[in-house]
Formats: sequence, structure tokens, C-alpha cells
Amino acid sequence: MNYIITTEQLTKKYKNFTSVNDVSLHIRKGSIYGFIGPNGAGKSTTMKMLLGLTVPTNGSFTIDGKHFPDDRLVILKEIGSFIESPSFYANLTGRENLDIIRRILRLSKSSVEDALELVGLTEFGDRLAKKYSLGMKQRLGLAGALLGRPPILILDEPTNGLDPSGIHEIRNLVKSLLNLYDCTILISSHMLSEIELIADDIGILNHGRLLFEGSLDDLRQNALQSGFAADNLEDVFLSMVEKDNTARKQRAKL
Ligand SMILES: Nc1ncnc2c1ncn2[C@@H]1O[C@H](COP(=O)(O)OP(=O)(O)O)[C@@H](O)[C@H]1O
Ligand SMILES: [Mg+2]
Repeated sequence: MNYIITTEQLTKKYKNFTSVNDVSLHIRKGSIYGFIGPNGAGKSTTMKMLLGLTVPTNGSFTIDGKHFPDDRLVILKEIGSFIESPSFYANLTGRENLDIIRRILRLSKSSVEDALELVGLTEFGDRLAKKYSLGMKQRLGLAGALLGRPPILILDEPTNGLDPSGIHEIRNLVKSLLNLYDCTILISSHMLSEIELIADDIGILNHGRLLFEGSLDDLRQNALQSGFAADNLEDVFLSMVEKDNTARKQRAKL
């Protein structure tokens, strides 16, 4: 299998609390990988480690043949990211905000127009960021991640806080990216239902542990075997989490 990102027993501890625990991910090149887990499961922490924003306590990872920590800077050049509601300069326009990122990344001027076009913000490019709706801010965040069309996109809950039509819009946008250029997308959510329409593979995280990793078909099979309707994967996800939480409580009592 051609994996573009693999993590090996990736672990992050804060004092005596383990936020990410022995996580081994396998992300196929050209796929959309849905990283699912309740709030606090460790999704953002995992993504921050991949982006070099926080250092793993244990384990390692490889991105596009480059191994962390030796190739940290090379790795970063290949990834566009959207982490936890990106912030912008409120008194600058959308276009100006993107231009700042473009200069830092030393990309051509046309990359800003390209990114605005990709997320459908071209006609709003000259509006101040503070006048953007939440959905437009999320799209501007995605445009920032897309500058220079990086081969890997790491998107942390890009639909967070959006209404159903906003969620639908971002979902379609993310899905369309794979047709626009050759990329791989790691996208997180606390709801499987938000991601299952676009993801090829799913990783389910709870309390820092990976409970499941596989294709959507694998998850459907798993659902049927556990007595669920295969068309209600959200229930399967929630029950996996609940089962794990119960087992944890029992272990804690012993
Ligand atoms: N800097 C930090 N110091 C201590 N604990 C942290 C820190 N960052 C995150 N955590 C904890 O790690 C756990 C996982 O957080 P996070 O990765 O943000 O989860 P998610 O993105 O899945 O909601 C949470 O319990 C959170 O409180
Ligand atoms: Mg998070």
C-alpha cells in the first residue's frame, strides 16, 4: 500500500496525562482520511505533532518518505494546514490576509487568486475579514491552507460551528479538491456523519487511543458484525466510544 503519512506509536504526554497514546496511523496517498473522535480525544494534538507544533513524547512519523524529526522543515513545506479556527487580521481584507501568508511562504502572487478561486471567495476578496460570515472565515482558512496547492492538507475540524448548509458547502469543497489537484487530505471531526460522505478511510480516536482504523467498507462490515445497521455509522462510532469508556471505568475501579 502506498501510504503518504504513517505514524508509529505516536504519543504525547502532558505531565501525568496522556493526550495521544500509541497511535499508529496509515494514510493512503490521494485519499481523504477522516480522523474522528469526541472533544478531547487527541485529534488536534496528533495533528499538531505532524505539523511540528508540538513535540511527541514517544513514537515517530514519516510524511512523504521524510522522517520526523530529521526532515522537519522539508515536511512543513509540503503541508497546508487549518488548525482550530484560524485567526486573521480583522481589519485587512481576505485577499490581504492571504497575501501575508503568501509572502511568508514565498509563493507567486497568482497563488492568492488561485486559492480564493478554489474556495469560491474571489468576489469577496476585497471585503474586510471582520465582515465575513463564519462560513466565509472557514473558507478563508481553507484558502490559507491551500496556498501553493500543497500535496498534503491537514484540516482540523473545518466545519466546527457551521450550520448544516455551511457544513455541506465545506464538505463539497474538500471533496472537490481531490479532483482539482493531486493531494491527500487528513480531516478531523467529532461527528462521523459529517465526514462519512467524503472520507475513504476512517480513524476513530478516544482518550488518545485509536479504536478503529480502516476503510468505510471495513467499518460497515464491523457494524454488521456488531449487530448495527450498516447505514447508521454514527451509532457505531458512538457505541465504540461508549464501550471504550465503560471498559476504562471498570479498569479504573480495579
Ligand atoms: N498544552 C496542553 N497541556 C495540557 N493538556 C493538554 C494540552 N493540549 C491539549 N491537552 C489535553 O489533551 C487532550 C486532547 O486534546 P485535543 O488534542 O485538543 O483533543 P481534540 O482535538 O480531539 O478535541 C485534552 O484532554 C486536552 O485537555
Ligand atoms: Mg481539536
